[in-house]
Amino acid sequence: MIRSRIIATGSYAPPKVLTNFDLEKMVETSDEWIISRSGIRERRIAEKNTSTSDLGTQAALRALEMAGLAPEDLDFIITGTNSPDMFFPCTGCFIQAKIGAKKAAAFDVSAGCTSFIHALSLADKFIKEDPSRKVMVLGAEIMSKVTDWTDRGTCVLFGDGAGAIILAGEEGERGILSTHLHSDGALWELLYMPGGGSANPSSHETVDKGMHYIKMAGNQLFKVAVRALADVSQEALKYNRLKSQDIDIMIPHQANTRIIEAAAKLISFPMEKVFLNIEKYGNTSSATIPIAMDEVQREGKVKAGDLMLLCSFGTGVTWGSAVIRW
Ligand code: COA
Repeated sequence: MIRSRIIATGSYAPPKVLTNFDLEKMVETSDEWIISRSGIRERRIAEKNTSTSDLGTQAALRALEMAGLAPEDLDFIITGTNSPDMFFPCTGCFIQAKIGAKKAAAFDVSAGCTSFIHALSLADKFIKEDPSRKVMVLGAEIMSKVTDWTDRGTCVLFGDGAGAIILAGEEGERGILSTHLHSDGALWELLYMPGGGSANPSSHETVDKGMHYIKMAGNQLFKVAVRALADVSQEALKYNRLKSQDIDIMIPHQANTRIIEAAAKLISFPMEKVFLNIEKYGNTSSATIPIAMDEVQREGKVKAGDLMLLCSFGTGVTWGSAVIRW
């Protein structure tokens, strides 16, 4: 059986660190509140003249280096992002041009923080269609540029970064075993950015009202997120006839440690097997999972044949999972 195997990973986070103590000087908050409510200690912030594709490009180059591939070897570049360089063209096209992946077809996926899982699911299908393909999947974000730095309810949570993986067709048991995708558009008001689109085109008024910033009903979203992560993880286990104890490592979307702990508790999944790096990066939206995948790979926290469960949720509301034999 042909499967889509992850042959390389790469990630990049901008060097500038913003700590909870820095935030104490910007809004009425405290390191104690942020760490106890979210698990975040610090996040990375991109420089003013940097765009999302710049971060994606660095992650892409690192993945290509690990794979030993040239940019021209890529057939597809699928980028999950909620903070694109521009409305159009897509951020993937900028990444394609910056790395020189002349042969690749580049496009973006927009499904909130779950975008990376959606992109991964598409990549799997492209490879099943033609196993000779090499497909790059990215999650890349500069959330700091859509954050209202006077809103303590959101500005303490998000950060910037990018992750990339490369998939190739391979005979055998290793690779993507399943993906499951869901959404409930009726819940869109839990997290959205109202300004700049066709509903509220950019104007002095939209800018004056701060409509180009993230709006979030954190408390309500928290409950939806716990349920979504638990349900989609259980669905993935059931589909693959697996039990929690069969999974070697779970990489959940890193939005809030308390959400992850509550979801793990609901499905009796041991926290020792859950990978967390939210403390260092905050919520980098669609980049949290590929950054974590790169870290576990480079730090030797996964080995060939391990079973990995990815699960995510995000604006939309969207949620999804993937099970991978590493
Ligand atoms: N510092 C200090 N106090 C803060 C604060 C901050 N940064 N942000 C909010 N508060 C205050 C609130 O104003 C509120 O005060 P009040 O009781 O006087 O009204 C109090 O803390 C509790 O707020 P609440 O929103 O109920 O806290 P919470 O325990 O739900 O935690 C979040 C807030 C945002 C951390 C949490 O709801 C969350 O993580 N939600 C999900 C968000 C998410 O995952 N978004 C991304 C999806 S991809």
